[in-house]
Amino acid sequence: MGTILITGGLGQIGTELSELLISTYGNDRILVSDIKKETPNENIRYTRLDVSDADSVRKIIGENDVTDIFHLAAILSATGEKDPFMTFNVNLQGTQNIYRAAKDFDVKKLFIPSTIGVYGPSTPKDLVPEDTQTRPVTMYGITKIAGEMLGDYYFRKFGMDVRGLRFPGLISYKFPPTAGTTDYAVDMIIHAVRGMDYECYLKCDTEMPMMYMPDALNAVVDLYEAPRKNLTRCTDYNVGAYSMTPVTLHREIKKYYPEFKVRYQPDYRQEIADGWPHSIDFRKAQKDWNFKPAYDLELTVKDMILNLRKKFDC
Ligand SMILES: NC(=O)c1ccc[n+]([C@@H]2O[C@H](COP(=O)([O-])OP(=O)(O)OC[C@H]3O[C@@H](n4cnc5c(N)ncnc54)[C@H](O)[C@@H]3O)[C@@H](O)[C@H]2O)c1
Repeated sequence: MGTILITGGLGQIGTELSELLISTYGNDRILVSDIKKETPNENIRYTRLDVSDADSVRKIIGENDVTDIFHLAAILSATGEKDPFMTFNVNLQGTQNIYRAAKDFDVKKLFIPSTIGVYGPSTPKDLVPEDTQTRPVTMYGITKIAGEMLGDYYFRKFGMDVRGLRFPGLISYKFPPTAGTTDYAVDMIIHAVRGMDYECYLKCDTEMPMMYMPDALNAVVDLYEAPRKNLTRCTDYNVGAYSMTPVTLHREIKKYYPEFKVRYQPDYRQEIADGWPHSIDFRKAQKDWNFKPAYDLELTVKDMILNLRKKFDC
């Protein structure tokens, strides 16, 4: 059995996905990597890897008998707009480095998450399917749609088993989100639990699709393990659970914290959010690999508050 390499493994998804993959496939098979020098978790196999450095990517893949890759290393939407050139290098050149080395070293399966950020202002807003107008205007969206298309190309041209899905905003309590446009959701719940008011950087009625992390992790594993013959798509399965606005989230939190207050002070992230869909159609994932989220907004908020109270001891 070869090594399963995770890139960007110290991020929001990578931290939790690594735990899940280690518990499923065993510590010996999982090699976690990230651009950070060290990992806070000494019990995992860890190596530093900058995916934008093609030689390092080839070295790590070649020397570790890598058979599977979960490629999570990326710069997210909000940071992406602050440094578009670095975002291009990491998200697109980095992804090409991973695909190319995976092909040359005969990697068996490669998973890469994409995002609703691939849609743009000209995409219809409601129940958006995979095949529609995709003209993103952020560097994040541009690099992610190109990464999807490259994955499709490697599948068609070289027969590489590349799989991916488009995540909506993800909500989790274990690891703070880095700099996405949907981070307000986690921040708002944390503020409520800590007894602080919250200033939201989006308008109160900004509607976007979201999903709770346990459903996101199950989606990754289910798609990864699905028989290839059942898959009608390659890198762009829509997944999601519910749509919400800051105000619907605020209302849900107030069931637990009736005094909790939110002020709205939109910043540059409003423009990014305005280009994204209100809701997405994920029936293809349901049909092809039985995708079925378990958490609606009510259950998400309940579970988040329960776990954050334990985490912050309040
Ligand atoms: N979190 C979300 O809400 C969300 C939503 C949609 C899609 N996604 C996708 O999921 C993937 C992972 O996202 P995340 O939320 O865990 O992001 P994150 O920012 O929390 O993690 C990304 C990790 O990549 C690492 N990284 C940055 N530059 C690197 C480089 N040059 N080489 C190697 N590692 C580098 C960072 O250190 C970080 O640990 C991304 O592809 C992202 O587009 C995430």
